[in-house]
Parts: sequence; C-alpha cells; structure tokens
Amino acid sequence: MAIAQLQGKQILITGAASGIGRASAITFAREGAHIIASDLQLEALRSLQEEIHALGVQCHIYTVDVSSEAAMRTFCEQVIAELGAPDVLYNNAGIVHLGKFLDSDLAHWQRVINVNLMGVVYGCHLFIPHMLAAGGARQVVNVSSAASFAPAPSMAAYAASKAAVAGFSDVLRLELAGSEIVVTDVCPGVINTAISTSSATTPGMTSAQLQHLQNYYAREGCSPDVVANDVLQAVKTGKTLVLSGPYARLTFHLKRISRRLLQKVMLGSARKLGYL
Ligand SMILES: NC(=O)c1ccc[n+]([C@@H]2O[C@H](COP(=O)([O-])OP(=O)(O)OC[C@H]3O[C@@H](n4cnc5c(N)ncnc54)[C@H](O)[C@@H]3O)[C@@H](O)[C@H]2O)c1
Repeated sequence: MAIAQLQGKQILITGAASGIGRASAITFAREGAHIIASDLQLEALRSLQEEIHALGVQCHIYTVDVSSEAAMRTFCEQVIAELGAPDVLYNNAGIVHLGKFLDSDLAHWQRVINVNLMGVVYGCHLFIPHMLAAGGARQVVNVSSAASFAPAPSMAAYAASKAAVAGFSDVLRLELAGSEIVVTDVCPGVINTAISTSSATTPGMTSAQLQHLQNYYAREGCSPDVVANDVLQAVKTGKTLVLSGPYARLTFHLKRISRRLLQKVMLGSARKLGYL
C-alpha cells in the first residue's frame, strides 16, 4: 500500500550523512516528513540536522554502524522507545571495494557483506516487527545497485552484496504480501557521490585508474537528488522496483534481451575506464 501523504510521517534512513541518503533526507523533509538519520559520521549528521530543522520538521540523529548487530539492536530499541515505529525504513548505507577479485585479499569480502547486506538484514529484522505491530501503510526501501545485474569488473564483492540485497528484498516482499508493508528495491546506476572516494578500498588500482574512475563518476553520474526523487515517488505510489540514474534502466532491459550484448557493453566500458 502506498504512502501518498508524507506530512508528519517518520522516515528512518541509514547512511544519511552523505550522497543518496543525505539527498533523500532533505527530499522527504521537504514533503513535511520527520527524519530519523543514522550514519557513522556525527559531524555530517549534525549539519544535516541543522538543514532539516530549517525546513520546519524534526530530524533525530544517531551514530550507528549498520554492520554491527548489537549497535543496530540498541539503535532500534532507542528509536522505538523515543519515537515509535518508522513509517519508512530506508536501508541505504553502503560501501564499495574496487579491485580485481584475484588481486584482492578476502578480508574485504566480509566487510562489504557486513555493511551492504547484513546492514539491510539487521534493519529489516529489527524494525519490521514494530512496523507491523504499529499497523497502517508502511514501506521498506532497500538500496541495491545496477551492479547487481550489470557486471562491472573490479566490483565482485560489491555486486554480490547488492545481488543478495535484491534477492532478499524479493523474498521479503512475498512474505509481507499479506500485510500493508511494501518492499522496494532501489537500483541506482552511476550517481555522483563520495562513495568511490570516501568508503572505497582500492587494492591493485593505480592512482591514475582511480582518478579516471572518479572523473567518470563526476562526468557521467547524476546528482543523488535524482535517486532521492525517484524513491520519494516510489513511496508515494507503492512502486517495488526503482531503476534510477544513468545506465540503470538501460542495462536492466539490455540484460533481459541479451546477456551477451550486455557483457560486451560492460567489457567495452571497463576497458575504456582502464579496469582491464
Ligand atoms: N553512487 C553510486 O553510483 C551508487 C550506485 C548504486 C548504488 N549505490 C548505493 O547507494 C547507497 C548510498 O551510497 P552513496 O553513493 O550515497 O555513497 P556515500 O559514500 O556518499 O554515502 C554512504 C553513506 O553510508 C555511510 N556508511 C558507510 N558505512 C556505514 C556503516 N557501516 N554504518 C553506517 N553508515 C555507513 C557513510 O558514512 C556515508 O555517509 C549505497 O548502498 C551504495 O552502494 C550507489
């Protein structure tokens, strides 16, 4: 069931201090929604809070590591006690690891899976029972990626974690089909955020390759506001799949038509970017 009117609703966003999470917090706040913003970066959360308060709505901030089950449990208990169940649970926090599979050690796999997949799993497992108990139309928004269906070399762990988020969201949607909770899977394409500079670990990539990649994101990527607006529309209409930003829709449909052609396109662009 959609949430057509967001005035006074509570939107909980993880990874809200930067990029898509930050843009979404502001976009939902402009609709009159109250924001529950969590991230690792306290200073950036404080500045977001100031900006959102200026819009005349509430913004509660929490520093939480989504990859820690204990921290997520404490966070959930605090939010439920202080504010009640969120209307929208927006699992957005994520990191990337860049580097070819065989050039990378295995430690990063655990880190990427813990943040990108387990962060979403903890959020859903802890908050959804409270959302169900509170009743009414509510929505879970899980951020996956176009990387979950369009293969990009040097992103094996990231792609695996995002494909897992998509698969998990598909199952969750079925299991919640008899409730008023909609589950939305968001697959952004190329978005110009700090992800490849701030959170990325990049073994085996030269600084020139990294610079090339960052220039590509700056040149080809769209503003995170585009994703924020697409998610807002998905919440207002109850849409379950959001393909947002450059290349997301194109690669999604291309894969349905010809996996071989998609592979050719992805290989060509990886070579242009100097990955291969
Ligand atoms: N930028 C893109 O091109 C793109 C494309 C597809 C999907 N995504 C996904 O969108 C989401 C947001 O990414 P972004 O591009 O806005 O990046 P970003 O780096 O600008 O923002 C990510 C935020 O998550 C926070 N974060 C990281 N690890 C965390 C943890 N363990 N606990 C809590 N917070 C943590 C960071 O501090 C940061 O504020 C991610 O899940 C990412 O994988 C991004």
